[in-house]
Amino acid sequence: MKWRALALVLAATGLRLGFSAGVRDQSLREAAQSSGMLIGTAVRPAQLSETAYASTLAREFNMLEPEDVLKWETVHPELHSFDFSQGDQITDFATRHSMKVRGHTLVWHQQNPKWLTEGTYTSGELAQILEKHITTVVGHYRGKIFAWDVVNEAFDELQPGKLRSTIWRDQPGIGLAGNGSLYIERCFRWAHEADPQALLFYNEAGAEVVNPKSDAIYAMVRDFRRRGVPIDGVGFQMHIENLRADVASISANIKRFTALGVQVHITEMDVALPVDPSGNPRPEDLQLQADIYREVATACLSHPGCTAIQTWGFTDKYSWIGSHSKQTHGAALPFDRNYGAKPAYEALRNALAAGRR
Ligand code: XIL
Repeated sequence: MKWRALALVLAATGLRLGFSAGVRDQSLREAAQSSGMLIGTAVRPAQLSETAYASTLAREFNMLEPEDVLKWETVHPELHSFDFSQGDQITDFATRHSMKVRGHTLVWHQQNPKWLTEGTYTSGELAQILEKHITTVVGHYRGKIFAWDVVNEAFDELQPGKLRSTIWRDQPGIGLAGNGSLYIERCFRWAHEADPQALLFYNEAGAEVVNPKSDAIYAMVRDFRRRGVPIDGVGFQMHIENLRADVASISANIKRFTALGVQVHITEMDVALPVDPSGNPRPEDLQLQADIYREVATACLSHPGCTAIQTWGFTDKYSWIGSHSKQTHGAALPFDRNYGAKPAYEALRNALAAGRR
C-alpha cells in the first residue's frame, strides 16, 4: 500500500514537473497560442537593428504597436506631407515574423507637430485636415494594421467624466464642440470608410477600473453601439504606478465593456517600480510586480471578449517610465536591461499558458 502511494505521488510530481518544464520552455507567444490571445508590445523602430531587441521581439510576441512613429509629429511632419518610413519598418518586421500590428494613434492632443498646434486654422479647415490625415494614414496601412486606436485619451484627467478640451474638440475643434462626443463619432466614421475591415478602438488612460472616467466612456460606447457607430473595441492603457492595481474593479470593468459587444485590449501595460540612482529596483518589488502582471493577465483571460494584452515596450533598457518619472521610477517591463526574463515575465507566461478559465 505504502509503495503504491509513493508511486502515485511520484507520478503526480513527475507530471507536474513535466508540465512546468514544458511551460518553462515556452515563449509568451507560444504560451498564448492555445487560448488565441494576442500578446503584444510597443516598438521603437530605431532599435530593430539591435540583435537582442529584434530576436526577443520576434520570439516572444505575436503583435506589435508603434510606440511613437505613427503619431502626428512623425507621420505627418508638414501640412502636405506624410512620412511612413518608420511605420513601414514595423509593419515589415511584423509581416516577416507573422505578427499582427495595432495602430496608435489617429486623434490625440499630444505629440502633434508645430505646424498644427501653432497654426491658425478655422474649424472647417481643421476638419478637413483631420479627415485627410485619417483617410491617408488608415488607407496606407489598409490590410496591414488590423486594429486602430482611433481616438486616444479624450476624457479629462481633472474633471471626472468630462471630455477634455483639445484642438480637435473645442480649441477651436472640428466644428462639433457643442455636441458631446460627436467629434469622436465623426473620427470613427472616417476611419471605417478608409478601412472597413480594421477594428476600431477607443483608447484611454486611468479608466481601467470602474470610476467616473470609465463610466463616461461606457456611456459613450453604449450609445455608439446602439446607433451603429463603427466602434469595435476599447483599449485600457494599464500604466500601473505605486504597485497598486484593484484587480477586482479591473475585472468588473472589462466585464461590463465586453457585455456591450466590444472587445477589450490591454494596450500599454507597465508596472513602474521605484529605482535607485543606478536604475535598480528592490528585489522584493520585482515579486510584487510579477503578481500584478499575473493578476491583470488572468483578469483579461477570464473574459472571452478581452482579446489582447500588450506591454508598453518589453525591455527596461527602453521604457518611457524613466523619462516620464525623472528617473525615480523604472524597471516596469517583463525583461531587464540585458533582455533577461524577470519574475514578471514568468508570471505573464504562466498566466497565458493557463489560458482562459
Ligand atoms: C509615450 C511614449 O512611450 C514615449 O516614447 C513618448 O515620448 C511619449 O508618449 N499614453 C499613450 C502613449 O497613449 O502614446 C504614450 O507613449 C504613453 C501614455
